[in-house]
Amino acid sequence: MTPKIIAVAGKGGTGKTTVCGLIINHLVKAGKTPLLAVDADPNSNLNEVLGIDVEMTLGDIRDNMLKSETTAGMSKQEYAEYMFSSALSEGDHFDMLVMGRTQGQGCYCFVNGVLKSQIEKYLGGYRYMIVDNEAGLEHISRGILPRMDILLLISDSSRRGIQAVGRIAQMIGELKLNPGVVKLIVNRAPGGVADEGVLEEIKKQGLDLIGVLPQDELVYRYDCEGKPSSAVPEDSAVKRAMSDIISKLDL
Ligand SMILES: Nc1ncnc2c1ncn2[C@@H]1O[C@H](COP(=O)(O)OP(=O)(O)OP(=O)(O)O)[C@@H](O)[C@H]1O
Ligand SMILES: [Mg+2]
Repeated sequence: MTPKIIAVAGKGGTGKTTVCGLIINHLVKAGKTPLLAVDADPNSNLNEVLGIDVEMTLGDIRDNMLKSETTAGMSKQEYAEYMFSSALSEGDHFDMLVMGRTQGQGCYCFVNGVLKSQIEKYLGGYRYMIVDNEAGLEHISRGILPRMDILLLISDSSRRGIQAVGRIAQMIGELKLNPGVVKLIVNRAPGGVADEGVLEEIKKQGLDLIGVLPQDELVYRYDCEGKPSSAVPEDSAVKRAMSDIISKLDL
């Protein structure tokens, strides 16, 4: 199997995690599994949007390894790979891998290395891989992903938001990450419509808008009540708009 790899990028709080959750929810409901969800944000919360518990992150494994001298006679790499299976949360419909935070020195190099080799090893078993990212492009730029088939840039519905995402698109080009397609999603648009000025800025930045998601009170409500926001009803405004985007992406 050659899975389709879908990643999101955008500045903080624009809805990257929510969009990942909605895509995963859609694919699972459409029976398009097996699927691997990767939370590559150290401040991970994709599991909350999806409503699943995560026992162990790759960051936890790294911390454990640093703390304990014993790796049961295995090399560091062997031990990390052995422990990796505990970090892969296997659900009924999809598996999930959480990068997590690491304490102490802020170096993710080792975890990144393990994540990269393990992703390569496991990837063939999945039909899709959805990668949620932190606001910066740290992990993407460190080459953790073997490739990116679809990169979704997520912006709020403001000129400055579009300018920010324009800079990200430029950086992606400079880093020679060569995603298959790069599409823009404008999120939290009042009434589900992008303003004229926003559309003008999108054109100026040379971005390819695939769809607009409305500001949806239900997403907000679910979030406030601690319910997984990917589970909002199928006829909610945000889900209808998302399914339109997904059909255009031809997943
Ligand atoms: N379409 C929407 N309607 C209403 N609320 C939304 C919508 N999209 C996202 N939100 C809310 O906005 C907040 C930020 O969303 P989210 O966590 O998905 O953004 P993010 O880009 O992943 O943030 P971060 O950069 O911190 O990872 C959340 O409280 C989420 O519930
Ligand atoms: Mg997020």
